Amino acid sequence: MSEETGDRAQASIGVFDSGLGGLTVARAIRARLPNEHLVYLGDTARVPYGSRSAQTVIRYARGCARHLQRHGVKVLVVACNTVSAVAVDMLRVELDVPVIGVVEPGASAAVAATRKGRVGVLATRGTVASGAYVRAVSALDSRVEVVQEPAPLLVPLAEEGWTEGAVPEEVVRKYLEALAPRDVDTIVLGCTHYPLLRPVIEAEGRAALGDELAVVDGAEATALELERILDDRGLRRQGEGGMRITVTDLPDRFQEVASRFLGAEAGEVEAIDL
Ligand code: DGL
Repeated sequence: MSEETGDRAQASIGVFDSGLGGLTVARAIRARLPNEHLVYLGDTARVPYGSRSAQTVIRYARGCARHLQRHGVKVLVVACNTVSAVAVDMLRVELDVPVIGVVEPGASAAVAATRKGRVGVLATRGTVASGAYVRAVSALDSRVEVVQEPAPLLVPLAEEGWTEGAVPEEVVRKYLEALAPRDVDTIVLGCTHYPLLRPVIEAEGRAALGDELAVVDGAEATALELERILDDRGLRRQGEGGMRITVTDLPDRFQEVASRFLGAEAGEVEAIDL
């Protein structure tokens, strides 16, 4: 390994999301790659992205990505489905570091799981409108049919910690009504927040669609893809890993709820300006 590649390998991995949800992806990365150091950016001043236009999301994504690039990250992980759906291609052209989104890994997890070739996608309005999951699944296997359903209320439920009981059950049931007649056997959690509601989605999903239903998300597959890129380029970091968390607004509130998404104490959360 050259000295330059060795130094580069010690650099951090940039991970960004509109807010808290991307911590579910950071969690999967930390579990798979414990020696890596992450710099996480949650754009809490402008969350939610999922209900905004593609142009606005692209503008926000550019600001987040450039900020992390200025910090010298070696790889950028776009942990937000909505940004991955509308801005990853642009970021790949504009940045000089590898960029990984969560839509392609989520689509490949779904294609691997479906037996009947019928996949349901629950996501934000922006992700659904972009058709990104439909394209990503079809690029992997054009015989697989994708049925999409926007599920915007699941984001505030996850943020508020309403992840069990009558309210989320009723909301999830309502969203599943659109998928049930289409006979899907796999549901992709196409939004960073939905893994927090996985138990409810699995229970309600199996009641509506049968016990064989598979529920998948892109977080683990994204961590695997990241590992592959680091190995291909000789960019694996040596030594103890860690994580710095930065947000654009309300760091205290973020810290209060972050552990639910991260599965561990979040530590200090710094407020920054983009
Ligand atoms: N992070 C977003 C996503 O995965 C959900 C929250 C938002 O709408 O900003 O699509």
